[in-house]
Amino acid sequence: MRAIVMTTTGAPEVLAPRDLDDPAPAAGQVLVRASAVPVLYPETKVRAGAFPFPAPLPAVFGFQAAGTIVDLGAGVDPALLGARVVAATSGFGAYAELVAADQDSVTLIPDGLGTEAAAAIQMPGSVALALIATAALTPGETVLVEAGATGVGSCLVQLCAARGVRVIATAGGPEKATLARAHGAAAVLDHATPDWADRLGEVLSGGTVDVVFDSIGGESLTPLLDHVTPLRGRILSYGWLAGAPAQLGAADLILRGLTLTGCAGAAWLGTVAAQRSAALDAAARGLLSVDIDATLPLDAAAEAHRKLEDRAAFGAVLLRP
Ligand SMILES: NC(=O)c1ccc[n+]([C@@H]2O[C@H](COP(=O)([O-])OP(=O)(O)OC[C@H]3O[C@@H](n4cnc5c(N)ncnc54)[C@H](OP(=O)(O)O)[C@@H]3O)[C@@H](O)[C@H]2O)c1
Repeated sequence: MRAIVMTTTGAPEVLAPRDLDDPAPAAGQVLVRASAVPVLYPETKVRAGAFPFPAPLPAVFGFQAAGTIVDLGAGVDPALLGARVVAATSGFGAYAELVAADQDSVTLIPDGLGTEAAAAIQMPGSVALALIATAALTPGETVLVEAGATGVGSCLVQLCAARGVRVIATAGGPEKATLARAHGAAAVLDHATPDWADRLGEVLSGGTVDVVFDSIGGESLTPLLDHVTPLRGRILSYGWLAGAPAQLGAADLILRGLTLTGCAGAAWLGTVAAQRSAALDAAARGLLSVDIDATLPLDAAAEAHRKLEDRAAFGAVLLRP
């Protein structure tokens, strides 16, 4: 089979196309013939060496793949043969024509949802649903969705708007601002400009933000704190696009009566996994969608990673094995 092998950590070129023997499903595993593989932002960090790679290198890269189950290991429910699924791997093995994955890690794709759309929505949709559940929103609240034109960000914008919540988003540049507005943001601030937090005050005109969905991290939260509702404001920190988690001290929160919830790590990922079916169902019912920027051949994995790192993608990037 054709597969993308990560040879070492580093630049996108460490993702090399190779011809390998077909994998066989072990006991409890299914074998998926992949037709759409999502290229995920956290994968770029794993490839670069910022997050650990969970296996000795070289190894087939990739977290998720969508396609059809073509073979079963011992002990697997025979009804799964031929099913369309999105499979989550143990952190490697998904950028390939054939993907072996634990049967517990596959999510059935509902009728009415295309395989590409399912591949694109599963990760951002399930993360956004887990964040929304954690935020305990009430109608009439105001939320700030940082990076609202990203996969997770655009799902948050849609889900919040559908719950009667006023959504203020940030995005990098006018085209991504248009995307965030199309998904339901009432106002969008350009986070590529240095004074965007000051302009949040103008947009709020005396009001405050009840929930901040923080994906940028770094120093970006500090100037926002005085715009968050005292005693009731919640900050959910789930990403650090700026390169480091939110740089806040306990006193920053305590003196304003705010809470910060960390939404990352192994236990959090279990919460996200529990939302996978719900994300695909919401997409099948037309309640959630992700823009698809490009579908590239499997061999173009390095190009796909570069596109994400250059912030040049306007939606999901998929590989087609
Ligand atoms: N905790 C979790 O469970 C979890 C799960 C998945 C993802 N995440 C995190 O969520 C974040 C978004 O992931 P995604 O998959 O939705 O991303 P994505 O769709 O791949 O979007 C990436 C976008 O992030 C923006 N960006 C990049 N660097 C930035 C920076 N320094 N400041 C502000 N924005 C920047 C760019 O948009 P602009 O051009 O608009 O700036 C870029 O196009 C990432 O930090 C990711 O690691 C967390």
